[in-house]
Amino acid sequence: MKQYGYFDDDVREFVITDPATPWPWINYLGCEDFFSLVSNTAGGYCFCKDAKFRRILRYRYNGVPMDSGGRYYYIKDGDSVWNPGWKPCKTPLDRYECRHGMGYTRIIGEKDGLRCEVLFFVPKGGRCEVHRVRLTNTGAAVKRVQLWSFVEWCLWNASTDMENFQRNLSTGEVEVGDRILYHKTEYRERRDHYAFFGANRPFDGFDTDRESFLGPYNGFDTPQQVFAGTSGNSVAHGWSPVASHRFDLTLEAGKSEELIFVLGYVENPPEAKFSAPGIINKAPAEELLEAFGTPAKADAAFAALKGYWDGLLCRFQLESAVPELDRTVNIWNQYQCMVTFFMSRSASYFESGIGRGMGFRDSNQDLAGIVHLIPDRARQRILDIAATQFPDGGCYHQYQPLTKRGNHDIGGGFGDDPLWLIFGTVAYIKETGDFSILEEKVPFDNQPGTEKTLLEHLKISFARVADNLGPHGLPLIGRADWNDCLNLNCFSDNPDESFQTTENKTEGSRAESLMIAGLFVAEGKDFAELLSQPAVSADPAYVDEVREAVSRMETAVKQHGWDGEWFLRAYDYYGRKIGSSENAESKIFIESQGWCGMARIGADEGLCGKALDAASKYLECEYGLVLNAPAFSSYIKDYGEISSYPQGYKENGGIFCHNNPWVIIAEAMAGRADDAWRHYCKISPAFAKDQSLRKVEPYVFCQMVAGAEAAHPGEGKNSWLTGTAAWTWKTVSEFILGIKPQYDGLLVEPCIPQHIGSYRVRRRFREAEYDLTIRLTGKGGSFRIPYRPGFQALEIEL
Ligand code: GLC
Ligand code: GLC
Repeated sequence: MKQYGYFDDDVREFVITDPATPWPWINYLGCEDFFSLVSNTAGGYCFCKDAKFRRILRYRYNGVPMDSGGRYYYIKDGDSVWNPGWKPCKTPLDRYECRHGMGYTRIIGEKDGLRCEVLFFVPKGGRCEVHRVRLTNTGAAVKRVQLWSFVEWCLWNASTDMENFQRNLSTGEVEVGDRILYHKTEYRERRDHYAFFGANRPFDGFDTDRESFLGPYNGFDTPQQVFAGTSGNSVAHGWSPVASHRFDLTLEAGKSEELIFVLGYVENPPEAKFSAPGIINKAPAEELLEAFGTPAKADAAFAALKGYWDGLLCRFQLESAVPELDRTVNIWNQYQCMVTFFMSRSASYFESGIGRGMGFRDSNQDLAGIVHLIPDRARQRILDIAATQFPDGGCYHQYQPLTKRGNHDIGGGFGDDPLWLIFGTVAYIKETGDFSILEEKVPFDNQPGTEKTLLEHLKISFARVADNLGPHGLPLIGRADWNDCLNLNCFSDNPDESFQTTENKTEGSRAESLMIAGLFVAEGKDFAELLSQPAVSADPAYVDEVREAVSRMETAVKQHGWDGEWFLRAYDYYGRKIGSSENAESKIFIESQGWCGMARIGADEGLCGKALDAASKYLECEYGLVLNAPAFSSYIKDYGEISSYPQGYKENGGIFCHNNPWVIIAEAMAGRADDAWRHYCKISPAFAKDQSLRKVEPYVFCQMVAGAEAAHPGEGKNSWLTGTAAWTWKTVSEFILGIKPQYDGLLVEPCIPQHIGSYRVRRRFREAEYDLTIRLTGKGGSFRIPYRPGFQALEIEL
């Protein structure tokens, strides 16, 4: 089996040893408002705050070859031209290594006695990428070599940059300093921002016009200036502005030269935009270059970044007998949760950064992965999300991070959305004990003057679902529930309509969702528990109302949602069953088994156990649990997008990893440790054996892995930005390892196979630090640790 890399856990890195990975294996840089995507061959782009509106580097989607464009360093050593990251020249290297770490990527290429090491990171407190380039002559003779940098600018709006050429090809503007190349397109008019690419010493040549650098008919792999050993010293006027520096270097034997590049973003106040008519105010760019432009300063910034990640990850550290589990828990799952929280579903190698903003349901779920790491940011996110709610409890399905305004193109009407606000808020308060968030005043649809407390928002969220029930007393689905592709009011036969926003038939719709029913019961119970906390002082009559609504829903599910062996998935527009043994295809779906199982509906009568058995029996394959089976073999207008996918992919029979944890948690709640563990290992990348088959990054969870009915089962897609990150974190930390945050402390209640023996968890919780050694003796049960600030070491036998 071909391997492309390995985990180096001691330094928290994944090391790629072959650049020709089956798909670009990327990393993310940045943890404040400047973010970068960087692949193992230095491809990718960066943006400030918003991947659509403040795109700094241009990136080619559907590029051939794939992953074209990035921050490229070219080296000319005699006749040979190469890149440390192998691409774009693809000159064979004597050695290549890419180390993706926590917020940084280090790429090392070596050829003919010359080593080039590039460290990429986004420093804390700086809106820039720092590229630390070290060239070392490992041979015995002096070397004269040349180094070129290269980036291509995006004209800010990543969407119009790809479309509006009649304008774009005339607007490009740059300025050239002796160390810094500036990109100032549209700065003359309404923009208050520009980008720059600077080096910490004066260059020997430069280019800012793409064709002058590459040659009009050349690709990134054959830049004419590099092959000629020159620079065009070109100043771009329109067309495609780029930035390239050239350095002519002499390297003594055994000696190194180090250059530091800063690729940054500057915003100037309106009165300080210009230093002279038409000349941009460069002072902030010079300061940013200055701030990181010496080896000592770059070292300090890099150390600060490492310190930041050490400080975060030490909040939950595991020592167990299973290295795959340790590396997932201690490093990569927490890291992916952070990235997912920052990006939502906007910018990855599967999401263009153009189409989607922050999802209401997605962002709420993402909180579960980071409340223990960055609680203050979770708090702000909850308030931002709540402000995109409508007064009737509905909400925008997405909002734009730059403006924090709801996205009108998509609107609302997704039946599950409001309940996720309860989910996110409960996760936050259980972790932090910060009940004061409930008293924060939050507007509706961001309209000043409409403010109500967050607690009121939660009440209307709950009511929104409680008051919108269908004929069986189950929640109406609207445009879709969690499954964006189950579009029961869509009825589209026009390929130009969006499945998510089209509702061709709504009048008299009876379409109901068992997934929302389970979510309502689970979140309703959580909500009642929250309301019952002494700090909340809710009206007891209201708490009773919530409990009664939950109990009516449980009855409705038992009466109308049980198929005999598992929970139904939905009722369609006409009131016909979906996900029933009566259906010809897709007789069983995962979401309702997961959610009704987590809500423990009918647990006493054995319904949950049976539903989980059915999930294993009908949905499980080698790589995880598929979403539905058998998959739909043709398009069914009554069901919408779900049946548009080929069998085994995405929401039609794919292993949609996001929902596997629901079943795993339900298994754990039912005390079925072996089943929970088996399902968990199947979707966890650290346990996957075949890197070629999996295709995408072996260090992060995928949204989807092709299912048993697919042409290529086991092939991963949509890596990185997925609710899978937060849900697998919740699953492993709270339900498998069993460390559950409660309002008044921690509850230790593991559900992990006996053979794992014992494990140690060091957990920071609010102002407390726990060192827990948990021994599995087989007796089971749970152990309560009341919250008390300070350090405690405990040995617990369960
Ligand atoms: C995508 C969406 C998410 C949705 C899921 C299932 O991951 O981001 O909101 O729940 O697909 O359709
Ligand atoms: C597609 C995808 C789904 C995603 C949705 C977002 O339908 O299948 O996963 O949530 O698009 O609009």
